[in-house]
Amino acid sequence: MPSLQASRDANSKFSPPYIPVAVFVGGTSGCGEATVKALASHTGGRVHLIIVGRNRNAAEKTFASMPRPEDESGKPVLREFLSCDVAYMRNVQAVCKQISGLVDHVNLLSLSAGYMTTDLRRDETDEGIDKLLSMRYYHRFKFILELLPLLERAAAAGQIAHAMTMLTISWMNFTLDLDDLDMRKNYTFYRAAAHPAAYNDIMVEEFSKRHPTVAFTHITPGMVSTPGVNRLFDWKPMILLKPFILLLDYLFAERVEVAAEYFLYGLLHAENGNWYLRTKHGDDAGHRVQNPGYNDAVWEHSLKLTSV
Ligand SMILES: NC(=O)c1ccc[n+]([C@@H]2O[C@H](COP(=O)([O-])OP(=O)(O)OC[C@H]3O[C@@H](n4cnc5c(N)ncnc54)[C@H](OP(=O)(O)O)[C@@H]3O)[C@@H](O)[C@H]2O)c1
Repeated sequence: MPSLQASRDANSKFSPPYIPVAVFVGGTSGCGEATVKALASHTGGRVHLIIVGRNRNAAEKTFASMPRPEDESGKPVLREFLSCDVAYMRNVQAVCKQISGLVDHVNLLSLSAGYMTTDLRRDETDEGIDKLLSMRYYHRFKFILELLPLLERAAAAGQIAHAMTMLTISWMNFTLDLDDLDMRKNYTFYRAAAHPAAYNDIMVEEFSKRHPTVAFTHITPGMVSTPGVNRLFDWKPMILLKPFILLLDYLFAERVEVAAEYFLYGLLHAENGNWYLRTKHGDDAGHRVQNPGYNDAVWEHSLKLTSV
């Protein structure tokens, strides 16, 4: 496991001969925001940044906190916020079009938008996708799919091309109900956590098979102290457990600035052509393969559900 100092040192050595283009979906809070800041800090702001989310103020504040040097043509590097509710596939498609209008390639795509909840009731968008499952998986699949041409262009230029999704990785093989992959029939707390974890694992493997010039990673966040923890109390019965959860958070959760160094390590240390499952400390956890029959089913299901 790279120590915090080793991760910091490795991150500070990231100094490509070009100015990288980085897209952060979920860069307005918590793990994503802290990783944007860590990247800007290690590069002296020498990075074109696009943040996708709903909270413009948070993004503007982050941009204002970092240096904004000039690019090779003397123009200030890109600092762009794109407002988007990413739970909807049509929105993801539209915002990816906007991104394609801003840049002709993408080096780093970080996907950390999502939320934690204990209120487990199926809540469908008008596209027929449960919102929580969309945030945990489907919108991530759609972003990668739509931005692949830009990632592949970066790879073709000999530059880093890497898409990284952040959600707990699947630690065990368990049975997927292939007739109910979007959980219309059986929606439980356990399944809403375990299924998207497995889908994200399968996603990086399957994208890698089909797009072998790009790198793909699924990294686990572990327990990190972020504003996201407070959302757990949106469901009023959870107020009773608040002292207990806050105590766990205090005792066991990583500080977000520390976790961000590990996430950034994972984001910057990927070889084009490989896929990775990484622990919360950025370690390569190896290639755990799900039941081999699952991959094709999850891939086909994802294409179908995310098409608009
Ligand atoms: N922190 C932990 O301990 C922990 C543990 C396990 C898993 N995770 C997962 O790791 C990821 C990052 O967590 P975090 O703690 O950093 O969360 P956070 O602080 O709550 O940040 C969540 C991010 O997701 C974005 N987001 C949520 N819904 C969105 C929507 N509909 N459209 C666009 N953006 C949306 C938010 O952006 P806007 O506010 O701008 O919309 C924000 O940038 C999440 O997927 C979370 O479920 C976290």
